[in-house]
Amino acid sequence: MALVASGSAQANQTISNADLSERVQTSDEWIRTRTGIQSRRVSTPDESLNDLAIRAGAKALEMAHWEPDTLDMVLLATSTPDDLFGSAPKVQAGLKAHNAVAFDLTAACSGFLFALVTAAQYLRTGAMQRVLVIGADQLSRFVDWDDRSTCVLFGDGAGAVALEATSAEADGLLGFRLRSDGSRGHSLTLPQIPTSLPLVNTTRHQCGGYLPIQMNGQEVYKFAVREVPAILKELLEQTSTTPEQLDWLLLHQANQRILDAVADRFSIPHSKVLSNLANYGNTSASTIPLMLDEAVRDGRVAPGHLLASSGFGAGLSWGAALLRWQGPA
Ligand code: ACO
Repeated sequence: MALVASGSAQANQTISNADLSERVQTSDEWIRTRTGIQSRRVSTPDESLNDLAIRAGAKALEMAHWEPDTLDMVLLATSTPDDLFGSAPKVQAGLKAHNAVAFDLTAACSGFLFALVTAAQYLRTGAMQRVLVIGADQLSRFVDWDDRSTCVLFGDGAGAVALEATSAEADGLLGFRLRSDGSRGHSLTLPQIPTSLPLVNTTRHQCGGYLPIQMNGQEVYKFAVREVPAILKELLEQTSTTPEQLDWLLLHQANQRILDAVADRFSIPHSKVLSNLANYGNTSASTIPLMLDEAVRDGRVAPGHLLASSGFGAGLSWGAALLRWQGPA
């Protein structure tokens, strides 16, 4: 599987830390020092998840110089679909990828990495030749904008990568590890509304809909700084790679302190840690491809570069992958 091209899309509105302090009791100083975030992008009410995903996907196709109808699959990693039955088919239609099968994959902030590894299986078996993996989320729909402990963290966005089948020697997925632990899932949830309504006679039914994001920030923080270095260590051992061989560390963008702690654990210079948290906050499944696309387009990530990537988040779920960026032909 070769990583051929990338694309991304930003939500329409920019909300600064100062803007948020108009709504909740917080400050630019608190948010910047605790998280590294300075502003985040939030979709306008008329901007759908599908819009973001289609824009990001179209840019990746453009970079790859691929006609949309040459795609075999569109895999959409999202926790915030426009339609609970699945948003990927609408994205497939919007991209005019008429020959592609399309479905959603949900694994919160690990979603993009899980989808990338899933796509690789189709490509490696020869079942498919070209796949578009999109990570897109609009957590702004599910944030309690009056809860200062969560609302300062999240934003909206989308990122995409175009993947192509290749020979085993040229495979750009050099190794991966994926993990889940539902027994710890309570520390970060976007749960169903726990309300039931009368149906007929004595029967009842559950009401559809979701509560805002519920998070124990300290538990999630501890989980991230423990599990991300551990899984990266396993990945490096599995692939006989030393931290010095890495060109970039491409982590889920949740908190600058988490990025710094992981880099320090491997003595990786902070200059090799890709970060765009300051401008976007945590955009869930979109952070990794959004960050990758920025770095590809400004030339930091170049063909042949080796990246260690790790995603982590609700589930709890986490994973790591060692990737070689190929770039367009
Ligand atoms: N502004 C000002 N004060 C605040 C704010 C705020 N926005 N939020 C919390 N505080 C206060 C708290 O009330 C608390 O006050 P108290 O001491 O009087 O009770 C104090 O600041 C410290 O709060 P802590 O929660 O201890 O702050 P901490 O240093 O742990 O930072 C944070 C909180 C930033 C949330 C951190 O724990 C974190 O980043 N956790 C990881 C979160 C994460 O990554 N989540 C996403 C995972 S990915 C996914 O799947 C969606």
